[in-house]
Amino acid sequence: MNWLVVGQGAMGLLWYHHLHQSLKTKSNHNMLSLLASKQQDLQQNQYQFTDLDKCAHRNTLNYASIEQVKNADTVFLCLKSYQIAPAIKQIAAQLKDNCSIILAHNGMGTLERLPQDFIEKHTLYALLTTHGCLRNAPLNIAHTGAGETSLGLISGQSDKTKETQLTLTLDEALPKVSFENNILKKQWLKLAINCAINPITALHNIDNGGVNNSQFNQQISALLSEIVVVAKAEGIELIKEELQANVQKVAQATAKNCSSMRCDILENRQTEIDYINGYIHRLGLKHALATPENSKVWQAIKHLETNF
Ligand code: PAF
Repeated sequence: MNWLVVGQGAMGLLWYHHLHQSLKTKSNHNMLSLLASKQQDLQQNQYQFTDLDKCAHRNTLNYASIEQVKNADTVFLCLKSYQIAPAIKQIAAQLKDNCSIILAHNGMGTLERLPQDFIEKHTLYALLTTHGCLRNAPLNIAHTGAGETSLGLISGQSDKTKETQLTLTLDEALPKVSFENNILKKQWLKLAINCAINPITALHNIDNGGVNNSQFNQQISALLSEIVVVAKAEGIELIKEELQANVQKVAQATAKNCSSMRCDILENRQTEIDYINGYIHRLGLKHALATPENSKVWQAIKHLETNF
Protein backbone atom coordinates (compact mmCIF):
# COMPACT_ATOMS: atom_id res chain seq x y z
CA MET A 1 0.00 0.00 0.00
CA ASN A 2 1.42 3.34 -1.05
CA TRP A 3 0.11 6.30 0.93
CA LEU A 4 0.31 9.86 -0.27
CA VAL A 5 -0.56 12.55 2.29
CA VAL A 6 -1.34 15.89 0.65
CA GLY A 7 -0.85 19.00 2.78
CA GLN A 8 1.81 20.07 5.25
CA GLY A 9 -0.55 21.86 7.68
CA ALA A 10 -1.39 20.70 11.19
CA MET A 11 -3.63 17.79 10.14
CA GLY A 12 -1.38 16.71 7.27
CA LEU A 13 1.65 16.46 9.52
CA LEU A 14 -0.32 14.87 12.38
CA TRP A 15 -1.36 11.98 10.12
CA TYR A 16 1.95 11.85 8.24
CA HIS A 17 3.83 11.52 11.54
CA HIS A 18 1.62 8.74 12.92
CA LEU A 19 1.39 6.84 9.63
CA HIS A 20 5.17 7.06 9.33
CA GLN A 21 5.69 5.66 12.85
CA SER A 22 3.29 2.77 12.32
CA LEU A 23 4.14 1.85 8.70
CA LYS A 24 7.91 1.77 9.32
CA THR A 25 7.49 -1.04 11.85
CA LYS A 26 5.59 -3.15 9.30
CA SER A 27 7.24 -3.97 6.00
CA ASN A 28 8.93 -1.89 3.37
CA HIS A 29 6.04 -2.68 1.04
CA ASN A 30 4.26 0.22 2.71
CA MET A 31 5.47 3.51 1.32
CA LEU A 32 4.52 6.91 2.64
CA SER A 33 5.23 10.28 1.10
CA LEU A 34 3.96 13.80 1.53
CA LEU A 35 2.97 16.19 -1.22
CA ALA A 36 3.34 19.74 -0.02
CA SER A 37 2.19 22.90 -1.72
CA LYS A 38 5.15 24.75 -3.25
CA GLN A 39 7.28 21.72 -2.37
CA GLN A 40 10.13 22.97 -4.57
CA ASP A 41 10.34 26.17 -2.47
CA LEU A 42 10.51 24.36 0.87
CA GLN A 43 14.17 24.37 1.86
CA GLN A 44 13.60 22.16 4.83
CA ASN A 45 12.83 18.46 4.87
CA GLN A 46 12.71 18.17 8.66
CA TYR A 47 9.51 18.62 10.60
CA GLN A 48 8.94 18.96 14.32
CA PHE A 49 6.12 17.10 16.00
CA THR A 50 5.26 17.70 19.66
CA ASP A 51 3.22 14.87 21.11
CA LEU A 52 0.51 14.91 23.79
CA ASP A 53 3.17 14.53 26.52
CA LYS A 54 4.83 17.70 25.18
CA CYS A 55 7.77 15.66 23.92
CA ALA A 56 9.24 17.08 20.68
CA HIS A 57 10.33 14.78 17.84
CA ARG A 58 12.27 15.86 14.77
CA ASN A 59 11.91 13.67 11.69
CA THR A 60 12.69 13.73 8.03
CA LEU A 61 9.89 14.29 5.54
CA ASN A 62 9.76 12.12 2.48
CA TYR A 63 8.49 14.56 -0.14
CA ALA A 64 6.58 12.85 -2.93
CA SER A 65 8.20 12.40 -6.32
CA ILE A 66 6.11 12.18 -9.51
CA GLU A 67 6.59 8.39 -9.34
CA GLN A 68 5.18 8.28 -5.81
CA VAL A 69 2.14 10.29 -6.90
CA LYS A 70 1.62 7.86 -9.80
CA ASN A 71 1.95 4.81 -7.56
CA ALA A 72 -0.27 6.02 -4.73
CA ASP A 73 -2.97 3.56 -3.66
CA THR A 74 -4.45 5.97 -1.14
CA VAL A 75 -4.38 9.75 -1.45
CA PHE A 76 -5.15 11.42 1.86
CA LEU A 77 -5.94 15.11 1.35
CA CYS A 78 -5.53 17.12 4.57
CA LEU A 79 -6.25 20.55 3.18
CA LYS A 80 -8.54 23.53 3.62
CA SER A 81 -11.87 22.93 1.86
CA TYR A 82 -11.16 25.54 -0.83
CA GLN A 83 -7.83 23.84 -1.66
CA ILE A 84 -9.36 20.41 -2.38
CA ALA A 85 -10.55 20.96 -5.98
CA PRO A 86 -7.39 22.84 -7.14
CA ALA A 87 -5.12 20.18 -5.54
CA ILE A 88 -7.04 17.32 -7.13
CA LYS A 89 -7.06 19.02 -10.54
CA GLN A 90 -3.26 19.32 -10.30
CA ILE A 91 -2.60 15.65 -9.64
CA ALA A 92 -5.64 13.91 -11.20
CA ALA A 93 -3.93 13.04 -14.49
CA GLN A 94 -1.09 11.28 -12.64
CA LEU A 95 -3.19 9.19 -10.26
CA LYS A 96 -4.07 5.52 -10.79
CA ASP A 97 -7.73 5.10 -11.74
CA ASN A 98 -8.57 2.86 -8.82
CA CYS A 99 -6.76 4.69 -6.01
CA SER A 100 -8.77 5.66 -2.93
CA ILE A 101 -9.21 9.31 -2.07
CA ILE A 102 -9.68 10.45 1.52
CA LEU A 103 -10.88 14.01 2.11
CA ALA A 104 -10.23 15.52 5.54
CA HIS A 105 -11.47 19.09 5.83
CA ASN A 106 -13.95 21.33 7.62
CA GLY A 107 -17.26 22.11 5.95
CA MET A 108 -19.10 20.45 3.07
CA GLY A 109 -19.60 20.92 -0.65
CA THR A 110 -16.14 20.08 -1.98
CA LEU A 111 -17.39 17.07 -3.98
CA GLU A 112 -19.54 19.34 -6.18
CA ARG A 113 -16.40 21.16 -7.31
CA LEU A 114 -14.51 18.06 -8.49
CA PRO A 115 -14.40 17.07 -12.18
CA GLN A 116 -17.08 14.47 -13.00
CA ASP A 117 -14.62 12.05 -14.64
CA PHE A 118 -12.49 12.12 -11.48
CA ILE A 119 -15.52 11.24 -9.33
CA GLU A 120 -16.41 8.39 -11.68
CA LYS A 121 -12.89 6.89 -11.59
CA HIS A 122 -12.30 6.96 -7.85
CA THR A 123 -13.78 5.90 -4.54
CA LEU A 124 -13.94 8.85 -2.20
CA TYR A 125 -14.07 8.77 1.59
CA ALA A 126 -14.55 11.56 4.13
CA LEU A 127 -12.53 11.56 7.34
CA LEU A 128 -13.75 13.48 10.38
CA THR A 129 -11.61 13.82 13.44
CA THR A 130 -11.79 15.49 16.83
CA HIS A 131 -8.01 15.39 17.44
CA GLY A 132 -6.72 18.83 18.39
CA CYS A 133 -3.65 19.97 16.57
CA LEU A 134 -1.82 23.28 16.26
CA ARG A 135 0.66 24.59 13.72
CA ASN A 136 3.28 26.60 15.63
CA ALA A 137 5.34 27.47 12.57
CA PRO A 138 5.84 25.97 9.09
CA LEU A 139 6.62 22.23 9.50
CA ASN A 140 6.26 22.54 13.28
CA ILE A 141 3.08 21.18 14.82
CA ALA A 142 1.78 20.10 18.20
CA HIS A 143 -0.82 17.46 19.02
CA THR A 144 -2.91 19.34 21.59
CA GLY A 145 -5.78 16.97 22.32
CA ALA A 146 -6.58 13.31 21.79
CA GLY A 147 -9.71 12.64 19.79
CA GLU A 148 -11.54 10.12 17.68
CA THR A 149 -11.81 9.66 13.94
CA SER A 150 -14.55 8.46 11.61
CA LEU A 151 -14.06 7.34 8.05
CA GLY A 152 -16.95 6.85 5.64
CA LEU A 153 -17.75 6.43 1.98
CA ILE A 154 -18.99 9.58 0.22
CA SER A 155 -18.79 8.56 -3.45
CA GLY A 156 -18.14 5.45 -5.53
CA GLN A 157 -18.37 1.73 -5.01
CA SER A 158 -18.24 0.39 -1.49
CA ASP A 159 -15.60 -2.33 -1.07
CA LYS A 160 -15.58 -4.00 2.38
CA THR A 161 -11.99 -5.24 2.07
CA LYS A 162 -10.72 -1.79 1.12
CA GLU A 163 -12.77 -0.13 3.89
CA THR A 164 -11.36 -2.50 6.50
CA GLN A 165 -7.81 -2.09 5.22
CA LEU A 166 -8.02 1.72 5.29
CA THR A 167 -9.65 1.79 8.71
CA LEU A 168 -7.09 -0.62 10.18
CA THR A 169 -4.10 1.26 8.79
CA LEU A 170 -5.39 4.57 10.12
CA ASP A 171 -6.40 3.02 13.45
CA GLU A 172 -2.96 1.49 13.93
CA ALA A 173 -1.42 4.89 13.20
CA LEU A 174 -3.63 7.12 15.37
CA PRO A 175 -6.46 5.39 17.25
CA LYS A 176 -9.35 5.33 17.53
CA VAL A 177 -10.61 5.18 13.95
CA SER A 178 -13.91 3.58 13.06
CA PHE A 179 -15.73 3.07 9.81
CA GLU A 180 -19.01 4.93 9.74
CA ASN A 181 -21.86 3.75 7.52
CA ASN A 182 -23.69 7.06 7.72
CA ILE A 183 -20.84 9.55 7.40
CA LEU A 184 -23.15 12.07 5.71
CA LYS A 185 -25.14 12.50 8.92
CA LYS A 186 -21.89 12.95 10.88
CA GLN A 187 -20.71 15.54 8.36
CA TRP A 188 -23.95 17.47 8.86
CA LEU A 189 -23.61 17.30 12.66
CA LYS A 190 -20.08 18.69 12.41
CA LEU A 191 -21.16 21.30 9.85
CA ALA A 192 -23.80 22.61 12.26
CA ILE A 193 -21.15 23.02 14.98
CA ASN A 194 -18.87 24.88 12.56
CA CYS A 195 -21.76 27.07 11.29
CA ALA A 196 -22.25 28.39 14.82
CA ILE A 197 -18.79 28.44 16.44
CA ASN A 198 -16.63 29.51 13.50
CA PRO A 199 -18.32 32.73 12.29
CA ILE A 200 -19.27 33.94 15.79
CA THR A 201 -15.74 33.53 17.15
CA ALA A 202 -14.25 35.13 14.02
CA LEU A 203 -16.65 38.09 13.88
CA HIS A 204 -16.38 38.86 17.60
CA ASN A 205 -12.71 37.86 17.95
CA ILE A 206 -13.43 35.58 20.92
CA ASP A 207 -12.28 32.15 22.11
CA ASN A 208 -14.65 29.23 21.45
CA GLY A 209 -16.00 29.33 25.02
CA GLY A 210 -17.42 32.83 24.43
CA VAL A 211 -20.01 31.33 22.07
CA ASN A 212 -21.88 30.03 25.13
CA ASN A 213 -22.52 33.60 26.28
CA SER A 214 -26.29 34.23 26.34
CA GLN A 215 -25.90 37.19 23.94
CA PHE A 216 -25.46 34.65 21.10
CA ASN A 217 -28.38 32.34 22.00
CA GLN A 218 -30.82 33.86 19.54
CA GLN A 219 -28.36 33.95 16.67
CA ILE A 220 -27.29 30.32 17.23
CA SER A 221 -30.92 29.28 17.40
CA ALA A 222 -31.64 31.01 14.05
CA LEU A 223 -28.55 29.52 12.38
CA LEU A 224 -29.46 26.01 13.53
CA SER A 225 -33.16 26.30 12.62
CA GLU A 226 -32.17 27.13 9.04
CA ILE A 227 -29.70 24.22 8.96
CA VAL A 228 -32.40 21.77 10.10
CA VAL A 229 -34.74 22.91 7.28
CA VAL A 230 -32.07 22.84 4.56
CA ALA A 231 -30.78 19.43 5.74
CA LYS A 232 -34.31 18.05 5.58
CA ALA A 233 -34.58 19.20 1.96
CA GLU A 234 -31.37 17.21 1.35
CA GLY A 235 -32.87 14.14 3.00
CA ILE A 236 -31.06 14.48 6.34
CA GLU A 237 -33.06 14.55 9.58
CA LEU A 238 -31.48 16.73 12.26
CA ILE A 239 -32.91 17.69 15.63
CA LYS A 240 -32.38 21.32 16.54
CA GLU A 241 -32.11 20.72 20.31
CA GLU A 242 -29.44 18.09 19.64
CA LEU A 243 -27.47 20.55 17.48
CA GLN A 244 -27.81 23.22 20.15
CA ALA A 245 -26.50 20.84 22.81
CA ASN A 246 -23.58 19.83 20.52
CA VAL A 247 -22.56 23.45 19.92
CA GLN A 248 -22.64 24.14 23.66
CA LYS A 249 -20.63 20.99 24.43
CA VAL A 250 -17.92 21.64 21.83
CA ALA A 251 -17.66 25.34 22.77
CA GLN A 252 -17.18 24.30 26.39
CA ALA A 253 -14.72 21.49 25.64
CA THR A 254 -12.61 23.82 23.46
CA ALA A 255 -13.35 26.97 25.51
CA LYS A 256 -9.79 28.35 25.41
CA ASN A 257 -9.18 27.51 21.73
CA CYS A 258 -9.08 29.87 18.81
CA SER A 259 -11.39 28.49 16.10
CA SER A 260 -9.87 27.80 12.70
CA MET A 261 -11.90 30.63 11.13
CA ARG A 262 -10.87 33.15 13.76
CA CYS A 263 -7.21 32.10 13.28
CA ASP A 264 -7.61 32.53 9.50
CA ILE A 265 -9.05 36.03 9.91
CA LEU A 266 -6.38 37.04 12.45
CA GLU A 267 -3.67 35.83 10.06
CA ASN A 268 -5.28 37.47 6.98
CA ARG A 269 -5.91 34.08 5.36
CA GLN A 270 -8.86 33.00 3.27
CA THR A 271 -11.47 31.25 5.46
CA GLU A 272 -13.59 28.16 4.80
CA ILE A 273 -16.83 30.17 5.05
CA ASP A 274 -17.95 29.20 1.50
CA TYR A 275 -18.05 25.57 2.65
CA ILE A 276 -19.63 26.29 6.03
CA ASN A 277 -22.40 28.95 6.20
CA GLY A 278 -21.88 29.58 2.46
CA TYR A 279 -22.82 25.93 1.81
CA ILE A 280 -26.11 26.44 3.69
CA HIS A 281 -26.71 29.62 1.68
CA ARG A 282 -26.15 27.74 -1.62
CA LEU A 283 -28.43 24.87 -0.58
CA GLY A 284 -31.05 27.43 0.45
CA LEU A 285 -30.98 28.85 -3.09
CA LYS A 286 -31.12 25.33 -4.56
CA HIS A 287 -34.25 24.44 -2.58
CA ALA A 288 -35.78 27.94 -2.58
CA LEU A 289 -35.48 28.13 1.21
CA ALA A 290 -34.62 31.35 2.99
CA THR A 291 -31.44 31.18 5.10
CA PRO A 292 -31.13 34.82 6.29
CA GLU A 293 -28.89 34.21 9.31
CA ASN A 294 -26.45 31.88 7.53
CA SER A 295 -26.37 34.19 4.49
CA LYS A 296 -25.74 37.17 6.77
CA VAL A 297 -22.72 35.66 8.55
CA TRP A 298 -21.41 34.26 5.24
CA GLN A 299 -21.44 37.80 3.81
CA ALA A 300 -19.99 39.34 6.97
CA ILE A 301 -16.98 36.98 6.84
CA LYS A 302 -16.58 37.55 3.07
CA HIS A 303 -16.53 41.25 3.85
CA LEU A 304 -13.74 40.75 6.44
CA GLU A 305 -11.77 38.73 3.85
CA THR A 306 -11.96 41.56 1.28
CA ASN A 307 -10.40 43.95 3.79
CA PHE A 308 -7.15 41.97 4.15
O1 PAF B 1 -12.88 24.78 12.97
C1 PAF B 1 -12.62 24.62 14.18
O2 PAF B 1 -11.92 25.39 14.85
C2 PAF B 1 -13.15 23.37 14.87
O3 PAF B 1 -13.74 22.55 13.90
C3 PAF B 1 -14.14 23.64 16.02
C4 PAF B 1 -15.00 22.45 16.25
C5 PAF B 1 -14.99 24.85 15.80
C6 PAF B 1 -13.38 23.76 17.32
O4 PAF B 1 -12.44 24.80 17.35
